[in-house]
Amino acid sequence: MTAHAEIAANQENDLRQLCHALQENLELLLPDGQPSDRVRAAMRAGTLPSGKRIRPLLLLLAARDMGYDLTKRGILDLACAVEMVHAASLILDDIPCMDDALMRRGHPTVHREFGENVAILAAVALLSRAYEVIALAPDLPSQHKTDAIAELSAAVGLQGLVQGQFQDLHDGGQSRSPEAIAITNELKTSVLFRAALQMAAIVTDAAPVMRQKLSYFAQDLGQAFQLLDDLADGCKHTGKDIHQDQGKSTLVQMLGADGAERRLREHLRSADEHLACACHRGVATRQYMHALFNQQLAMFN
Ligand code: IPE
Ligand code: IPE
Ligand code: MG
Ligand code: MG
Ligand code: MG
Repeated sequence: MTAHAEIAANQENDLRQLCHALQENLELLLPDGQPSDRVRAAMRAGTLPSGKRIRPLLLLLAARDMGYDLTKRGILDLACAVEMVHAASLILDDIPCMDDALMRRGHPTVHREFGENVAILAAVALLSRAYEVIALAPDLPSQHKTDAIAELSAAVGLQGLVQGQFQDLHDGGQSRSPEAIAITNELKTSVLFRAALQMAAIVTDAAPVMRQKLSYFAQDLGQAFQLLDDLADGCKHTGKDIHQDQGKSTLVQMLGADGAERRLREHLRSADEHLACACHRGVATRQYMHALFNQQLAMFN
């Protein structure tokens, strides 16, 4: 095996182990209940089927890159809380009055399986559970937990996912400037990446300059990721509905696939630079970002 192949294999193995730990912990934090407990079952159905787990992986990798010991249980709880918020946002994003999606992660969407009212309640319960999980996380000082909750709730709220989703639904059907689309993408996608990375900064007591660089990194990463998601809209292997974005003003529709991919690579390059400045030891986070995008882009190139 070449040195390069060995590094790639070690990285893959590391990610597999982290994903496994996340999965086990999510199962523990969202235990099964009585068959009649439909909301609980819907929370599990929206969270447990394996997604890419990008946001919790970013939190874990960045924290470890900044010197944090991942064997402490609390950090895993923080990462799972971020994934619960993400899962709640997906359940809501899919319901008929939003994107009206049929498939998610290769399964029927939560509202199709459990009904719309249960889906909405499951999303609310997941958000609430996420904050509870952080508040009760072991091994973390109270100040870190308070700061993490403040970070995550800001990412969800009126200047975060909620605002991004509102703009996407209400302006997405009209033609928009590339700048307006980028602002919406920042709100609906970058903010949760930012919260995950800031939570890594919180637990490692990172200096303000580092936090700023991580914030710039998240901004570019989120833009690149939403471009990737929009580029994948016609692709069969996403586990989601095909051509969900038809009739919507996206950067892909505006710039064409090649233009959008060029823009994506520019954001990735910029993200990489910010991360290199933020953390000279940020090796695993950077490797992960590149591997993720290479793998995803290969799916439709
Ligand atoms: C989907 O996120 C929503 C977007 C921000 C585009 P992911 O592509 O990370 O979804 P999962 O978690 O892998 O299902
Ligand atoms: C939604 O973007 C981003 C969220 C925060 C839910 P999309 O609507 O493009 O996400 P997908 O394609 O349904 O995953
Ligand atoms: Mg949407
Ligand atoms: Mg959607
Ligand atoms: Mg999409």
